[in-house]
Amino acid sequence: MTEPLVIRAPAEMTAWSRAAHASGERIAFVPTMGALHAGHVVLLGDGRRRAERLVLSIFVNPTQFGPNEDLARYPRDLPGDLAKAAGAGTDVAFVPDAGDIYPAGFQTTVAVGELSRGLDGPLRPGHFAGVATVVAKLFNIVRPDLAIFGEKDFQQLAIVRRMVADLAMGIEIVGVPTVREP
Ligand code: PAF
Repeated sequence: MTEPLVIRAPAEMTAWSRAAHASGERIAFVPTMGALHAGHVVLLGDGRRRAERLVLSIFVNPTQFGPNEDLARYPRDLPGDLAKAAGAGTDVAFVPDAGDIYPAGFQTTVAVGELSRGLDGPLRPGHFAGVATVVAKLFNIVRPDLAIFGEKDFQQLAIVRRMVADLAMGIEIVGVPTVREP
């Protein structure tokens, strides 16, 4: 099992993806916040089968946490994540710093409208806008052909599908049945 190449700089990630596309390879992408579990491994396995290249991102996204949800206590285990990613045949783990995703002066976000209000948006204000914004940014950096999400998070999956269609992102969104651990 070879450990995935760890890329931290967005420009390096985009350059890697450009080179893969130039070689005629398709890229499958699994965005995560780390602390990988069996459900993530299922998503990675699906991506591995669908494309020549498999990229995982690990980024605990501050903008999708509410004031009462503890960002600081979110589990982090990079060595463990890389071992699991290696087992699933991941080529690249993109692990950016918060300052690279949200640099000083950052002010452009994706508003998700009605769809988030009909789901649990009012209970978690800002949560789905935070998810949509970071997923859009990760898509722009990683430039995948397809991205894989657990069907268990059906609200998130619906919002990502809507965003990709509305903003003509041209990325295939694959929903995979998974079991989510607590
Ligand atoms: O499902 C998650 O882990 C997160 O919401 C995601 C899609 C990685 C965005 O931060």
